[in-house]
Amino acid sequence: MNLKEKIFNLLNEKNTEFISGQYLAEVFNVSRNAVWKAVNSLRKDGCNIYAVQNKGYTLDSGGIFTGEIIKSYMQLPVKIEYIPNVTSTNDIIMEYGRQGAEEFITVVADSQSNGRGRKGRIFYSPDNAGTYFSILLRPNVHFSESLYITTAAAAAVTEAIKQLYNMDTQIKWVNDIFYNGKKICGILTEAHLDMESGTVDYAALGIGINVFEPKESYHKDIKNIAGAAFSRSLFDNKIRCEITAKVIEIFYEYYKNLSDMTFLNTYKSRSFLTGKNITVEKDGIMQKAFVKGIDDKCRLSVLFENGIEENLLSCEVSL
Ligand code: BTN
Repeated sequence: MNLKEKIFNLLNEKNTEFISGQYLAEVFNVSRNAVWKAVNSLRKDGCNIYAVQNKGYTLDSGGIFTGEIIKSYMQLPVKIEYIPNVTSTNDIIMEYGRQGAEEFITVVADSQSNGRGRKGRIFYSPDNAGTYFSILLRPNVHFSESLYITTAAAAAVTEAIKQLYNMDTQIKWVNDIFYNGKKICGILTEAHLDMESGTVDYAALGIGINVFEPKESYHKDIKNIAGAAFSRSLFDNKIRCEITAKVIEIFYEYYKNLSDMTFLNTYKSRSFLTGKNITVEKDGIMQKAFVKGIDDKCRLSVLFENGIEENLLSCEVSL
């Protein structure tokens, strides 16, 4: 851990207490000047560190959304890169994948100008409202198993929200999270495939959570579908940071042994569509079906009106 990280951790641990520059210099056995430089560098990274004469430094950790704070909520030694505004965090991670960056590097953004969802849809990503992040994966699985990256991530989002806030969210097969009937999160996994071996070379797992309502209301295209997980409070940024950290940590646990599908029970039990009548769009044809559940390969088990049962791997469904 470098000096900057040590100072950050101590200030964060002490919460709103003031810690003098002299004390920091002594504890970490460095000069006052080194402390001052590290504090300034943390401020440049977006940390709100206040300095008061004769008292020292204090950190406002409730008020900022940044990589340092996200990391402070995690045990995992992964690299988190915070970039306030990006086109799409998936773009950056795919480029990192191509360049050979280490697995699990994560890019988090406050807003995206070109956030995207499945089937080329826009994923609206306004500033100060959500958390938009992508994780670089090198899963070494056959691409038939790559669906499990998305489903494991969906289970991780619902589990993180349950563990942190005891809220029950639901998964609308295959990649959407719903709360109170509104979509609060979307997941998009994009991959570069190795055609020779049929495996995934690298992938960008992108997760976008609508944590709060945007300052301006939702875009007209998504007004009827989109919702926020929380109401705004004094702790907006704390929530955005801790939720990002928790999702990454839980996903990591599932991902370690992806083929074992340790996320499956969570995924099944939180299925939003199970027991509902839906419309399935298959090969351009709309068909009505009843959802029996999720099978052991994360496929949607449906019973069509004509009595035929099928396990759907991927297609558009609506309620
Ligand atoms: C969907 O709703 O179909 C999936 C939405 C996925 C959005 C996330 S936000 C982070 C990452 N960057 C993107 O451009 N998309 C994903």
